[in-house]
Amino acid sequence: MGVIEKLIAGHREVREEIDILDKLVRMSNSDAFAWDDVFKISNFFEKEVREHFRLEEIVLFPLMKNVLPLSEQNILTEIKDEHKPILGKFDDFKKMAERHKKISSKNSREDFVNSSKAVIDSIIPHAKKEDEKLFSLVRKYFRAENYKQLEEMYFKYLKV
Ligand SMILES: [Fe+2]
Ligand SMILES: [Fe+2]
Repeated sequence: MGVIEKLIAGHREVREEIDILDKLVRMSNSDAFAWDDVFKISNFFEKEVREHFRLEEIVLFPLMKNVLPLSEQNILTEIKDEHKPILGKFDDFKKMAERHKKISSKNSREDFVNSSKAVIDSIIPHAKKEDEKLFSLVRKYFRAENYKQLEEMYFKYLKV
C-alpha cells in the first residue's frame, strides 16, 4: 500500500472508531457502557492517529512543499496547525479516562461525553478537509516520479 492509500485508509479507520465513540456517548447512561471501550479508543488515538499525523508532517508535507506551487501551499500550514490542538484533545481524553476508570458516577459520564464531543468535533472536519482538499492537490500535482519519491521518503522515515 502506498503512502496516500495508507493515509486514506487511516481516515476510514478514524471514522469507524469515531462511530464507536459516538455509540458509547449515546449509551453512556446505560449499563452496557464500559470504560474498557473508552481506553481502547484512547489507545487508538495515542498510537494510530499520532503516527498518522507524523506520517503527514514528516513524509508527505515536505514533498508537497517541493511539488505544489506556492499559491497552493497555505493548506499545509493550516492542516499542521490543526494537528496540535487535536493531539491536546487526545491527551485530555486519556486523562479523563484515567480519572474515571475506578469510580463511575453521573459526573464521570458527563466528563466522558464532553471530552468525546471535543475529540469528535475537531477530528471529523480535519479528516474531511484532508480528503477533500489535501489529497486532491496531491492528485493534481503529483507525477509518477513524485509518488516514487514519496515511497522512498517513507522507507527512509521507517528506518529512523
Ligand atoms: Fe491530519
Ligand atoms: Fe490525515
